Amino acid sequence: SAGLVGCAAIRLPAVALDPTLGPAAPPPLLGAFGQDPPISTTMEWETRRAPLLHAAFEREVYGPYPPNAAPARVLSRDEISYAPLADVARIEQWSVAVGPADAPPHFNMVVVLPRDATGPVPLVIMENFCGNRAAMADAPDEIAGPLTEVLWACDAPWAYPLIETVFGRYINGPPYEDILARGYGLAMFYAGDVVADEAVGAREGLARLYGDDAENTGAVAVWAWLYSQAYDVLAADPRVDARRVAVWGHSRNGKAALYAAARDPRIAAVIAHQSGRGGASLSRSDEGESIAEMMEAFPWWFPPAFADAPRDPAMDQHQLLALIAPRPVLLGNGARDAWSDPHGAWQAARAATPAYELYGAQGLAQEDMRTPNLEADLAYYTRPGLHGVTAQDWRVFLDFLDAHLKTR
Ligand code: GCU
Repeated sequence: SAGLVGCAAIRLPAVALDPTLGPAAPPPLLGAFGQDPPISTTMEWETRRAPLLHAAFEREVYGPYPPNAAPARVLSRDEISYAPLADVARIEQWSVAVGPADAPPHFNMVVVLPRDATGPVPLVIMENFCGNRAAMADAPDEIAGPLTEVLWACDAPWAYPLIETVFGRYINGPPYEDILARGYGLAMFYAGDVVADEAVGAREGLARLYGDDAENTGAVAVWAWLYSQAYDVLAADPRVDARRVAVWGHSRNGKAALYAAARDPRIAAVIAHQSGRGGASLSRSDEGESIAEMMEAFPWWFPPAFADAPRDPAMDQHQLLALIAPRPVLLGNGARDAWSDPHGAWQAARAATPAYELYGAQGLAQEDMRTPNLEADLAYYTRPGLHGVTAQDWRVFLDFLDAHLKTR
């Protein structure tokens, strides 16, 4: 199961964290790309190169976004009383329909806004692993659980302490108080509500969105698209500052968050924690999980094309990071999380840096893999430990958001 695959990380040795190690350099970002000559201006980048790269990511890696989708619409919006946060937040549950006008799927989103806000707030959109109930300690009855099948552990509150010991205090839900205290709102949902994170349900969910064209699609592209669908409805709310909305995702959701930010220029910043293969880490890397292993364990995540070697040698994940430039990106890592390939993500960030510089922004600007330069627009951080989400992680995430979203 997915849980067991995740646990494989525990057995792997610590990563050297040597900034000179990792995969061979990918093709230079601003060099020729097929017939496309080298790039030297943002104009060339945006009008010539970026469209080619977007097409290539659809073809080679993620598949297309759902076609013919009607705009996302809020079906219901209910105020929720939740004692643990009653003093500091207003909490709502929104049901959001997406996709085709007829019989659309929907997801349930928990919106948490600072009670003392005096104007529109910056906000973090996060996708979670187990649904919203698992993400809220003693969740009120009105909070909907996941709409599709999830790992058994997600439905077993007695197991959460154990899971949080292994995968970190914040693997299920974020530190609400800390996020609110820094002035941010939060919108959280389970992307599996729309396309399940499981083989049979995922195929059904993809068929609902893509009809007869579901074959060369994958769940990660839909999960990415859902960040933008959530953005659409949140940006229409006057309590949210639409220019300061960041997306956050861990691991499989980090893959989706990066792709979402690459495709949607309205997303102001992205935090992708331990996103690994098909996320921030270069596909040509030999460390950590291989594409074949991921495609075998989770065949519904990416279209079959991603497994077909040889893939286009001109392509790699540094180009995905570059498509986000000059917007801020933070890549989180764990020193014993070899599975998600920290060296592969480091080399991708280095190789994406010329796109930031093209915009006069600062790309990766730090000497070592542990200590992030959070002021830089492309930052990389490694803490000790395994695959998971810890208190230290969230301190760094919020410091990064403060550095980039606070002063605008
Ligand atoms: C598995 C999978 C990874 C993924 C991770 C996660 O370990 O192999 O690619 O990032 O699950 O989502 O936690």
